[in-house]
Amino acid sequence: MESTKDGFDSSFLYYIFDVLFASRAIYGLLKAYFAGKFERLRLQEQQRLQRKPVRVYMDGCFDMMHFGHANALRQAKALGDYLVVGLCSDEEIIRHKGPPVMNEKERYAAVASVKWVDEVIFGVPYEVTAEFLDRLIREYHIDYIVHGDDACYSANGQDAYYAVKKAGRFKTIKRTEGVSSTDLVGRMLLCTRDHHIDNIHGEHKVSERTGRSSRVFFNEQTDDETSLSKSSTFLPTTRRLIQFAQGGRTPKPEDKVVYIDGAFDMFHSGHIETLKAAKQLGDFLLVGIHDDHTVNRYKGRNFPIMNLHERTLSVLSCRYVDEVIIGAPWAVTEDMIKTMNISIVCHGTHWDEPHNNSDGFKLDPYAVPKRMGIYKEIPSSSNLSVMEIIDRIVKNRAQFVTRQQKKQAQEQQYLETKHFVQEL
Ligand code: CTP
Ligand code: C5P
Repeated sequence: MESTKDGFDSSFLYYIFDVLFASRAIYGLLKAYFAGKFERLRLQEQQRLQRKPVRVYMDGCFDMMHFGHANALRQAKALGDYLVVGLCSDEEIIRHKGPPVMNEKERYAAVASVKWVDEVIFGVPYEVTAEFLDRLIREYHIDYIVHGDDACYSANGQDAYYAVKKAGRFKTIKRTEGVSSTDLVGRMLLCTRDHHIDNIHGEHKVSERTGRSSRVFFNEQTDDETSLSKSSTFLPTTRRLIQFAQGGRTPKPEDKVVYIDGAFDMFHSGHIETLKAAKQLGDFLLVGIHDDHTVNRYKGRNFPIMNLHERTLSVLSCRYVDEVIIGAPWAVTEDMIKTMNISIVCHGTHWDEPHNNSDGFKLDPYAVPKRMGIYKEIPSSSNLSVMEIIDRIVKNRAQFVTRQQKKQAQEQQYLETKHFVQEL
């Protein structure tokens, strides 16, 4: 130990200096490290802001638009910043696949209402030729063309995206399994209820035909029934709901909450136009979706064609919708109005009369909001209904059966040859 004459221990001083120097060095190092890190983050953010937005293009027929289509659009949007959708005309679809069920005006309304879609180009070719790709790049500044991981062939058997792949502009997203127009047409024609969700009390017996089978729709012919029969393999997950709800917002206390309810089966342009008008009545649109048991009790037969989970996803994909009640009550109650802070309850003027006039369906479901003076009717833009969609399919029976068989063979091939594609 070193001591001065007066007994002061100098090694303690050295120790203090050492500690001070060490602290200063550590401080310097930490400061440099964090300064570098913050600078990198600042530059990354600056680059992100300066980066040219990535424009992606997805095309298709989007016939009987379902949540599989919506999920494809959601994933396409996730591949870039701006999503342009190319929609084929009826004429083009007839040339390549046969007649669509929904006409071009209805298909346009359905695609344009999806919350991930920024722009729609109507009348695009079914096949993205080198010339059309050139136009997409020059006129629409498209960076990538996106399609599901299922093969897509034009009428002449050519890969519809050959030119895109050759140009290195093709990107794939995971096709949503468990839903397809083939499956939906099958449900409509075969009148099965296998897709229904049993209600919590187990009252609803499923896995049975309703008695009104395809024979009614097929003019007593049973020929192609088996080729149409396929039950849903859709697996509803909370992740899917979260993706479709996309954060969802909570209404502010001063927000005017508008409530509209119904089956929203085979979600179509009639629903979309009414939801758009309903949203314009306030600040927050809350949509009540009746459960399968309730819909089946008032609509009968094998309705709804799409189950509660599927209908929920379709409604959630609509840009005008802020929130949904999954399994809303048939009658709007005062308690519900208070709990949800509802200012307006509305309904379209198009109304499918309940086929069942017994057990409670005779009562006006809107008696309470009418008494409170908050009920409003919205003029419906069309009389489109699920029955109308079924009638269209039945009228074109021969063409649809051929198309269904072809499509089902393609789907089978997809299932047999598919490889893992990460869903976005
Ligand atoms: N798509 C998807 N998942 C589905 C259905 C379609 O990802 N279940 C994608 C297709 O891969 C395509 C886009 O949606 O990229 C548009 O599809 P469309 O042209 O309507 O083709 P189809 O495959 O015929 O759709 P459908 O199942 O209705 O027959
Ligand atoms: O028939 P559904 O219960 O699915 O209807 C849900 C809502 O959509 C109702 O308010 C109904 O009036 C409206 N609708 C409409 N036009 C249609 C079909 C439904 O306004 N063609």
